[in-house]
Amino acid sequence: MNLDPKAPIGVFDSGLGGISVLKRLVEQMPEEDYIFFGDRKNAPYGNKQAKEVLRLTEQAYELFRERGCKAMVIACNTATGVAADALRSRHSGFPILAIEPAVKPAAEAFPGGKILLMATPLAMKTERIRSLARRFQKRAEIQLLPCPGLVELIETGHLSDEALKAKLKELFWGLETPDGVVLGCTHFPHVAPAIREYFGENVPLFDGGEGVARHTETVLKNAGLKKESNEKGTVEFIFSKGDEKTLSLAKKLLS
Ligand code: DGL
Repeated sequence: MNLDPKAPIGVFDSGLGGISVLKRLVEQMPEEDYIFFGDRKNAPYGNKQAKEVLRLTEQAYELFRERGCKAMVIACNTATGVAADALRSRHSGFPILAIEPAVKPAAEAFPGGKILLMATPLAMKTERIRSLARRFQKRAEIQLLPCPGLVELIETGHLSDEALKAKLKELFWGLETPDGVVLGCTHFPHVAPAIREYFGENVPLFDGGEGVARHTETVLKNAGLKKESNEKGTVEFIFSKGDEKTLSLAKKLLS
């Protein structure tokens, strides 16, 4: 496969959540160019059937290939759980990176402690998340919390208002305060301040954005695909549904 180091990196999510990963990628590799595709027309993915999410992720891959991208970052835990392995085996030779919930660092930080893993209902059902939780269950107690409805609020810009706080209260109702919280959906870092406010400042939040950004850089370097430049690269946003308000929220989330 002939890929160009100067080509952009495609970053994909069902909506605005993946911008939390895009932000880490830009911090890690500011010289690169990025195309962010948010499939808002079909969001949320977390309430869909797995085969539908696989089809939509394949469509995103096609879009990035048409746009000449050199790599794809799946910045969606739900799409990763359902589609990353299938896409990699169908398109070997094209770098496909994928986010993973930061269960490992959380369990290692609190041996014997309680870790709350938040994700979408579909992501929670995937073998990828279940086996990740099983793997670290010996280190710490991993409590799985599916979070229906949270992505929808974040997509519509409810990042810190009463509606968001009421939703968190409903989701967390009856839970003991954990030692750490894993944000297993890329939308959730956008509401990290509200989650912190609920559990208190001394409960750390873990997300996989930084890890995937570092890993992407290593993979690009090893493949000879890293862009060499001293200038800052560009970010282009594409949304399958959206307007000026969507774009300004996207820019705000990236800033
Ligand atoms: N950001 C996606 C994730 O990380 C949200 C999926 C959805 O649209 O429900 O899982």
